[in-house]
Amino acid sequence: MGSKKIRVLIVDDVAETRENVSKLLLLEDDIQVVGEAGNGEEAISLSRSLQPDVVLMDINMPVMDGITATEKLTMEMPQVGIIIMSVQGEQEYLRKAMMAGAREYLIKPPSGDDLVATIRRVYEVECKRRLSQGLPPDGAKTVREPGRVITVFSTKGGVGKSIFAVNLAVSLQQVSKRRVVLLDLDLQFGDVAMLLDLLPKRSIADLVSEMEHMDKDLVEAHLIEHDSGVRVLPAPLRPEYAEIITGRHIEAIINILKDNYDYIIVDTCQSFQDTILAALDASDLIYMLTTLDVPTIKNIKLGLDVMASLHYGSDRIKLILNRSTAEMGVSVRDLTGSVPYTVACQLPSEGKVVVGSINRGIPFVQSDPKSPISQAIFELAQQINNQFHPGKGEPAKQKTPWFSRSGR
Ligand SMILES: Nc1ncnc2c1ncn2[C@@H]1O[C@H](COP(=O)(O)OP(=O)(O)O)[C@@H](O)[C@H]1O
Ligand SMILES: [Mg+2]
Repeated sequence: MGSKKIRVLIVDDVAETRENVSKLLLLEDDIQVVGEAGNGEEAISLSRSLQPDVVLMDINMPVMDGITATEKLTMEMPQVGIIIMSVQGEQEYLRKAMMAGAREYLIKPPSGDDLVATIRRVYEVECKRRLSQGLPPDGAKTVREPGRVITVFSTKGGVGKSIFAVNLAVSLQQVSKRRVVLLDLDLQFGDVAMLLDLLPKRSIADLVSEMEHMDKDLVEAHLIEHDSGVRVLPAPLRPEYAEIITGRHIEAIINILKDNYDYIIVDTCQSFQDTILAALDASDLIYMLTTLDVPTIKNIKLGLDVMASLHYGSDRIKLILNRSTAEMGVSVRDLTGSVPYTVACQLPSEGKVVVGSINRGIPFVQSDPKSPISQAIFELAQQINNQFHPGKGEPAKQKTPWFSRSGR
């Protein structure tokens, strides 16, 4: 096992119980409590970010009970060993919990010795199981491709960057079932959180202020989860906080996110400041948003020239024509001149759907999935996923059919 500590997540709705269990584990060198959750739903979302080896799960909890959570966690993260904790006399529940995929159970309150021995046993069995299946010993760190960075950019404001970025993130999450994170780099006036009806307590500014200790866990702690499953790193809560953030910071944050997410969608503002350049540098794909009116076209043309001089190749840059209808009087050729930029997608103007969605804080791909603008974005999301993960469909989950869950 080497010197790796067993990462434990404690799940119980009673804070005192969590504290007591946590205290019992404090003295063990090989065990580390990585987090605490107050209900099943929290347990699932924390497990995704913290990747524990073992989850200590209470049964009766508000919001989502421990049996439902065990069932869901077992499906999604079979490498996590779940130990059910229940009070004397809940035999029927216990049976259900074991059926749902729990590996062991403890009667509350467990003695320190029992608790530690059970955690070690569950962890060892899991290690052996992985070994026997030829899987890497550490479930959380299976080899995976680094995430793809997709930046939504424009040299013009108000062309629809943010609504596009938000809807692209949500649709990509739905289409790919992969891990998607959305980064708001409109550092002064970012509105991604608002478009998703999220009320962030922490932002990228707080993350950057702790830069010396930046690691995966710290970044995760600053993300906020949307009900679609997309995680968001919000823009600073006040415009003046933007000043402390540099291109270096953005580079570091994106690098960490790439280890943990399949798609990193970046919303930007209309500027070539160093934070935006850092994102463009890191991008696998740059979506240049434009509308087809003469002032915007003039502006975008200049923007594309600058990007060419900064050596962003036309292979990485794709155009998105927003609010496009046939009778614009201007063509794409007017825009791109001799450089062969491809148009990835055309989005119709749909005031009612778009503005309704903005006002309600629900992305239109969720509120009006059948509308033409949503369909266009879903199609693009599918193309993106086909490009980066051809023929794979959904991400490969560790194959552990329920009937081979041996070793109890
Ligand atoms: N396809 C569209 N149909 C209707 N309205 C749109 C469309 N795209 C953008 N808008 C309008 O433009 C406004 C600006 O969009 P936004 O995403 O905030 O732009 P940016 O982020 O580029 O500044 C939105 O509030 C919305 O009212
Ligand atoms: Mg914007």
